[in-house]
Amino acid sequence: MRLNKKIIIIFASIAFFSLFLAMALSNIFLKSQFEKYVIKKQDKKSLNLIYSLSKCYSLEHGWDKVELKDIGIAALEDGMIIKITDREGKVIWDAKSEDGLKCQRVIKNISDNMEKVNINWTVKEKGKYKYKDYNLEKDKVLLGKVTVGNYSPYYYRDEDILFLNELNKLFLIALAIALLISIIVGTFLSKGLTKPLLEITEITHDISKGNYNKKIKTNTNTYEIKLLAESVNNLGDDLERQKYIRKKLTKDISHELRTPITTVLTYMEALKDGVWEPSQEKINICYEELRRLDKLVGDVEKITKCETTAIEFKKETCSLKEIYNELHSLLKKELKLKDISLNFKGKDVNLLIDKNSIVKAFSCILLNSVQYSPKESNISIEATEKNNKKYIYFIDKGKGISEEDLPYVFERFYKSDKSRNRSSEGFGIGLTIAKYIVNAHNGEIKINSKLGEGTTVTVIL
Ligand SMILES: Nc1ncnc2c1ncn2[C@@H]1O[C@H](COP(=O)(O)OP(=O)(O)OP(=O)(O)O)[C@@H](O)[C@H]1O
Ligand SMILES: [Mg+2]
Repeated sequence: MRLNKKIIIIFASIAFFSLFLAMALSNIFLKSQFEKYVIKKQDKKSLNLIYSLSKCYSLEHGWDKVELKDIGIAALEDGMIIKITDREGKVIWDAKSEDGLKCQRVIKNISDNMEKVNINWTVKEKGKYKYKDYNLEKDKVLLGKVTVGNYSPYYYRDEDILFLNELNKLFLIALAIALLISIIVGTFLSKGLTKPLLEITEITHDISKGNYNKKIKTNTNTYEIKLLAESVNNLGDDLERQKYIRKKLTKDISHELRTPITTVLTYMEALKDGVWEPSQEKINICYEELRRLDKLVGDVEKITKCETTAIEFKKETCSLKEIYNELHSLLKKELKLKDISLNFKGKDVNLLIDKNSIVKAFSCILLNSVQYSPKESNISIEATEKNNKKYIYFIDKGKGISEEDLPYVFERFYKSDKSRNRSSEGFGIGLTIAKYIVNAHNGEIKINSKLGEGTTVTVIL
């Protein structure tokens, strides 16, 4: 089932059931309250009736029969069948003998009403017409008796039924409005959810087909969907990057392989065919090319080893100064060759590390600084400590890295096109190894650089 349909159905069901429950509960509550009210009203009416009847008697004229009749008929309209007798028990006025048919009609009407409201009212609520006698008195003197007939325990008049029906009608209208509102709100809400989700699905489909540069543009304020859209966009960027690296790697490696093989093959053919005499110089050239090939295979092995086997670390506490001294003597030859000075600045920090592998990582970083810095320049190592983390900076004022190359320098065999020339020895694995070692120490490595201004590599341990 589609998400929007599901949301609308859930909304409508919640609205329906909550209103239905409210309607049922209020009906039960109202009914019991209404019953109490009706019973009270009935008692009051009976008392009023007795009072009015007592007033129809005067010492001089006895009972005012016209007035009694009026009161009796009015009571009949109200569902009360009365019979008035005097002190001696003689009937003065009787509703049944006045209009027997009307009395029957009144009783039937009430019982019909009650059955409409409460099926089986006569059986369940024991509703039946009952007669009760009251004394008619004036100044504590007995005047006679009145027998009042009433539906017991209570009964609804037409207007009471109308009131209850109106109330239920109102509930039904509220139910219809709530359902309508829930459908409208549900539709809007589901649109807000499904629209970005459909876009995300479309873009992921495109990404799976290799269109990595497609981006999700939808502007949603739903946090989770926003996060999902960002993740899919990042995934696209990542895959695009990988695609570029893959292409470049294949191109570069085939170039690295092709050049020495072609050189050696040409030289060997010329020597074999007797075109050239084997000379020391030609043997040296062939040897150099084969050595380069050997280094390339060696680098591939190094990276594979890094990636496939877990380094076994023997962690020890070591001061950065100590490592610096080791690096200084390790790179003495390279530094001297370009007359570059390597300095240690700032405060010394203690590091809990596997010394050999960290020296290897830092030497990869420093070798780059030496390699890509001009003669007689400076390279410095600085350190700070923030939030229990050690920040080590390797700063050079060398040729720097272009913005296009910067995101890729940690990728294996990645070299900027300019540095991929025959004069540079490496194949682009130095920073990959450094990153691998630092990450294995749960650390971080970052690089900042500006073309022509220099490079800073930051290691956080
Ligand atoms: N300090 C730096 N100054 C300028 N460019 C740098 C610096 N460090 C790295 N780079 C650039 O990043 C690329 C990748 O560096 P990396 O150390 O991985 O490879 P490499 O030095 O080319 O070869 P290898 O280290 O395998 O001998 C280099 O080719 C270079 O273009
Ligand atoms: Mg390097």
